[in-house]
Amino acid sequence: MSYQFYKVLHLVGIFFVLLSLGGIALHVVNGGTREFKNRKFIASMHGIGLLVSFVAGFGLLAKLGFMRDLPTWSIMKMVIWLVLGGLPAVIYRKPSLAKPIWLTTLVLAGFAAYLAVYKPFMNVPATTEGALESQAPPVGTTVPTAPPPAEPATNPATGQ
Ligand code: HEM
Repeated sequence: MSYQFYKVLHLVGIFFVLLSLGGIALHVVNGGTREFKNRKFIASMHGIGLLVSFVAGFGLLAKLGFMRDLPTWSIMKMVIWLVLGGLPAVIYRKPSLAKPIWLTTLVLAGFAAYLAVYKPFMNVPATTEGALESQAPPVGTTVPTAPPPAEPATNPATGQ
């Protein structure tokens, strides 16, 4: 599967997570409790989103060649992922925190995007090889280069 495919999958997984957290937060802000009609639905959307974003996140790390030595920014993203995974329990348990948690979720998601885009704390320059995979020539092929400049024409008889 391609880098591009993993990225779309990663983002779709994140959308699932954020959408379900928003739904749970609004429900609780409006006085809802842990028991409600579509609780299983929203819990499974949250869970599927976590799973998909996690698997695709690691697919992306592999495509970018970061799996051998996980960069700090990716570990920070995993911490954010864990926090987003635990938030429904906190929202149900502490309804008074639902609104601040909703806002914090936005900040965390923005920070996760920042980490992926800017890749801070790296002591080697970030590679975009995976992103350009589809445009790169296959391994083992020679890239055509510009032909050398033409020699000035000479007269074979005089050699000049
Ligand atoms: C297990 C946790 C996670 C891992 C391992 C992970 C890993 C990655 C990787 C490797 C990329 C690609 C970076 C690139 O193309 O250069 C990426 C992109 C992205 N991630 Fe994550 N991520 C995780 C969690 C999250 C979370 C929790 C969010 C947001 C709530 C998030 C939001 C994004 C976004 C918006 C992008 C696209 C950035 C771009 O345009 O390149 N990720 N992630």
